[in-house]
Amino acid sequence: MNSQRKGIILAGGNGTRLSPLTRGVSKQILPVYDKPLIYYPLSTLMLGGIREILIITSPLDLDSFKRLLGDGKSLGIEIKYAIQKTPDGVAQSLLIAEKFLDNGPCALILGDNIFYGNELVNILREADKNINSATVFTYPVRDPENYGVVEFDNNGIPKNIIEKPDKFLSRFVITGLYYYDSSAVEMVKDIRPSKRGELEISSINQIYLEKNQLNIQKLGRGLAWLDTGTIDNLIEASLYIRSIEHRQGLKIGCPEEIAWRFNWIDNNQLENLAKPLLKSGYGKYLLQLLEEENLNDKFEISY
Ligand code: DAU
Repeated sequence: MNSQRKGIILAGGNGTRLSPLTRGVSKQILPVYDKPLIYYPLSTLMLGGIREILIITSPLDLDSFKRLLGDGKSLGIEIKYAIQKTPDGVAQSLLIAEKFLDNGPCALILGDNIFYGNELVNILREADKNINSATVFTYPVRDPENYGVVEFDNNGIPKNIIEKPDKFLSRFVITGLYYYDSSAVEMVKDIRPSKRGELEISSINQIYLEKNQLNIQKLGRGLAWLDTGTIDNLIEASLYIRSIEHRQGLKIGCPEEIAWRFNWIDNNQLENLAKPLLKSGYGKYLLQLLEEENLNDKFEISY
């Protein structure tokens, strides 16, 4: 269950596409239905069994993230923080994390990416096993030109990963979750900024692909990968989460619940997390988990 891999959440950037919402608050702290956006990528790493996590933020937002998540101890994990002075590209996060990673493998997730679906835990567990190569996840979308896109050869074999291509290559794009071995950090030192002035994560994926060390795992249509790039995307993501939560009475992206189900925290610790949150209903949900434990085996409800 526990991974030896360290996790990185990249939660910097200027959030300009969501301005003025993001003038006073980081994008990754904006609400997606009943919780801050960053809870979802944090939950994804936790579902992958990752317990040592570095959150990279802009200098302005560091204190807000610390106030929100602290050192992670109450969730049975360890959270550290680092600053990205200016948003010079997703791949820069690996350089910032170099010391934290200490030559080990990592999982990097973008702080605005939401994954949800039945098979997620198994998919993450499989990716975790590849410690001498990289695993990325591809998903079909309607607007591939806004992402890193997989180009296939005539036999359907991936031949390139191109960041925001000008022409249509395929509808399969690379999501913002990357499992890398220890060589990724050195690769970033060798790449140059792209035309838009960023150290592109697609350049790193392209290097792995050329070395024949890139596992491209398709995420099926039964799995949801939600975008939060625009104000409409944010609302749609909120409505999606709300629909499922209302129907099932179970929360999506609830780090407290994951920590408890994985036995990283005990019943008392969950109760302590619930108490300050009782007025919003979030705390009531956590307490309800404890009550239902007497009725059901707590592992019966899968993710
Ligand atoms: O979401 C998946 C896509 O994410 C991939 O398909 C692309 O290959 C990858 O480049 C990235 O594309 P975006 O255009 O969505 O990246 P964006 O600049 O919007 O940044 C994604 C998140 O990372 C956003 O929440 C801000 C944060 N970020 C971004 C950059 C460039 C940082 O914290 N620092 C940065 O330097």
